[in-house]
Parts: sequence; structure tokens; C-alpha cells
Amino acid sequence: MSKVTRRDAIKAVSAGVAGLPMVSMAASTRLPRASRGEIRAYQIGDQKGLDSLTLTRRPEPIPGPGQVVVKVRAAALNHRDLSILYGRYLGAKPPERIPLADGAGDVVAVGDGVTRVKVGDRVTAVPFTSWADGDFDPSVFAADLGSGHDGWLTEKALLPEAALVKLPDRLGYEDAAALSAVGVTAWSILHGFAAVKPGEVVLTLGTGGLSIMTLQLAKLAGARVAITSSSDEKLAKARELGADITVNYRTHPNWGEKILEATGGRGADVVVETVGASTLDQTFKACAPNARIGFVGSLGGGATTPPNFGPVIAKNLVIKGLTSGTRRTLERLHRAVEVSGLRPLIDKVFSFEDARAAYAYLEKGQHMGKIVIRFD
Ligand SMILES: NC(=O)c1ccc[n+]([C@@H]2O[C@H](COP(=O)([O-])OP(=O)(O)OC[C@H]3O[C@@H](n4cnc5c(N)ncnc54)[C@H](OP(=O)(O)O)[C@@H]3O)[C@@H](O)[C@H]2O)c1
Repeated sequence: MSKVTRRDAIKAVSAGVAGLPMVSMAASTRLPRASRGEIRAYQIGDQKGLDSLTLTRRPEPIPGPGQVVVKVRAAALNHRDLSILYGRYLGAKPPERIPLADGAGDVVAVGDGVTRVKVGDRVTAVPFTSWADGDFDPSVFAADLGSGHDGWLTEKALLPEAALVKLPDRLGYEDAAALSAVGVTAWSILHGFAAVKPGEVVLTLGTGGLSIMTLQLAKLAGARVAITSSSDEKLAKARELGADITVNYRTHPNWGEKILEATGGRGADVVVETVGASTLDQTFKACAPNARIGFVGSLGGGATTPPNFGPVIAKNLVIKGLTSGTRRTLERLHRAVEVSGLRPLIDKVFSFEDARAAYAYLEKGQHMGKIVIRFD
């Protein structure tokens, strides 16, 4: 490994280069606290699994024009972060990439020309940092935190000011971190694409971070919510959160029929499709005429036999692929959270040092809602 001077590193950061050169690195996640002028940050390494996640020491980031340094207080995991560690999300990434799309903290330094935030502000960021408003464009992937751009699993994050959103007073760091990606995605589907109405039935699949946030936001919008899970225990908890219809997809593989029965034969008006091809037949079965399906995930992997698309025509279904959403959406979500007092369901909080254990917990799939990392 070639030695990198602090000057080189600072130049790289100031230039906004993706992936700061490594100063030192340890195979374990027990790296002692960084000394003055340094920070500790994880990197995704060779993307061959959980062991690829490596704690490194790097020079403290210095903000260039339009950039902000945030002292991170909390970060949160999404299923995508696991896929990235296995090299299964939009191809291989530089090994130095800092993971995680979600986080929150305090602004500690700002670069030239920064006007949207100041030192001392409590902030989070929209994961697609270049997507402030407007229609989706594939270019947003290039600046996606933890994927195309360094993310939040670092003591200090270097972020573009355009991505930042100040936290409402009542929103804590952990809740803010848990909200961003899933909140923006669920809001974009429910209020952007599907324009959900009070009284409509929203169906969401599984009880991971996105599904539980969908449940919470759909209830806030006055919808009836149907949710599926492999666990009766989780379904009981979902009912406590307001779910109206609950179906165990393991004990009822024909769960689409169950949703139809529970809605008097009509079906769901809006679906947040997190599982994908393997159970699309059930999703189509569960749909009401003219239902809107927000297609966002593929938790179930590929299908052994292709789905029957007949119901798409017979029921006039609308299927739209979605990629999270904009900073404007995150701002709207924060306003709703401020007024309603909604809090994301956090399953478990891990320390920064235990980040790999947090990934392992996500991989097991026993969680419900979000997994958070707390920084001292
Ligand atoms: N997080 C986001 O903001 C976001 C944004 C866009 C797209 N997505 C996509 O949406 C999906 C969910 O993301 P996430 O972060 O919420 O994941 P997650 O927290 O890891 O969700 C995992 C849960 O999904 C359920 N699940 C897994 N396999 C399933 C299957 N075959 N059938 C039904 N349910 C299944 C399980 O729920 P039970 O234990 O209850 O069975 C599992 O606990 C992923 O494909 C992800 O790429 C997520």
C-alpha cells in the first residue's frame, strides 16, 4: 500500500473525490479512537460479505466549496447496504467507499459558499444527494450515499450542502437516521405516485424498515393497512402499530386470496412491492381494480416460473418502479413527523464499534423496522 500524505488526502477530500485514500486500516472493528486530525470510518472493502466491512483511520475531512462536515451521531441500515457488502447492488464499488445511506449529526465545518446550513445545526441528508426536487433521472445514482458517494458510517461525514435537511427540534438523531431512506421511499409511493386517499387499502409486504414505515405513513394518511409477515409475533406487533389486516405469508402461501377475503373481495388499492418477481402472482391477486403498485424491491429473488401478467390487464393495474425520492420529499416528511409526533420503529441500536454485528443482525431478518448505529 503506498503511503498517503495528509496533504494528498486533504486535496482528495477538497476535490470531492469519491473514496478518500486510506491512511491506515485494521482487519478488526476494534480500532482505537482516532488521534487529533484523524477520524475512524468504515469502508466496504472487497464486497465479498460481512467480513469485507473494515474500520479504517483517515484524515479528518475538510470541506471544499459547497461541502459540509457533519459529526455523525446516528446512522441506520437498509437492506441495500447488505447487498452492497455482497457486491450485489449496481456492480462493484471502490473498496474505500464509506457505507450507509442514512444518518444524522451536527454540522462542524462548512466550505466556501455554503448558505443552507451553519456550524451547530442538527442535520440529516436525503440519500440521493443530487436529487433535490423534480423527476427521477438515472444520474442520481452517482451521488447516492453509501453507494456512489461516501456515506454515514464514519465519525465525520463530508456531504454536499444541497443534500442536507435541518432536523425539527423534536426529532432526535436516531429517529432522524431511521427515517430518511424508508420515509422518503414510502412517502414517494403513497403521496407521490399513488396519491393515496383516506379509506383506501394499502398493502405492504414483510415487516422490514420500508414496510413498517409504509404502515405508519399510510395510517397517518387515513388508509386501511394490510401487511404480511413470516412471523405471527411480528404481525401482532404490526396490529399494535395500527395494521388492520395481517397475513402470515409462510403459513398462507396463497396470501393474495386472504387479502381479498379480508377486504370483502375488493382487494388493495395501493401496494408497496418489496418482494418482487417470486410472489407477484399473489400481489396481483391481492389487488383491487385500478390498484397502483409501487415496485421497489426484490427481497424474494427471481421467480421459478414467470408471473401471470393477465390480471394487470384484467384489473387495469398500474405498476411503477421507484427509487426512493427527493430532498423536498424528506422536508415534507419532517413536517408531517413534527405535527403528528410519528416515530420510526427502531428494533435495535448498536454501537459504532459493533457495526458489523448490526449488519449480521440485518442479515438474519429477525428485525422489525429499523436497525440503528449510535455514535458516542
Ligand atoms: N429501505 C429503503 O428505503 C428502500 C428503498 C427502496 C427500495 N427498497 C427495497 O425494499 C426492500 C425492503 O427493504 P428494507 O430496507 O425494508 O429491508 P429489510 O428491513 O431488510 O426487510 C426485511 C424483511 O422483509 C421481509 N421479507 C424478506 N423476504 C421476504 C419474502 N420472500 N417475502 C415476504 N417478505 C420478505 C421479512 O419480513 P418478515 O420477517 O416479517 O417476514 C424481512 O424481515 C428491499 O428489496 C430494498 O432493496 C428499500
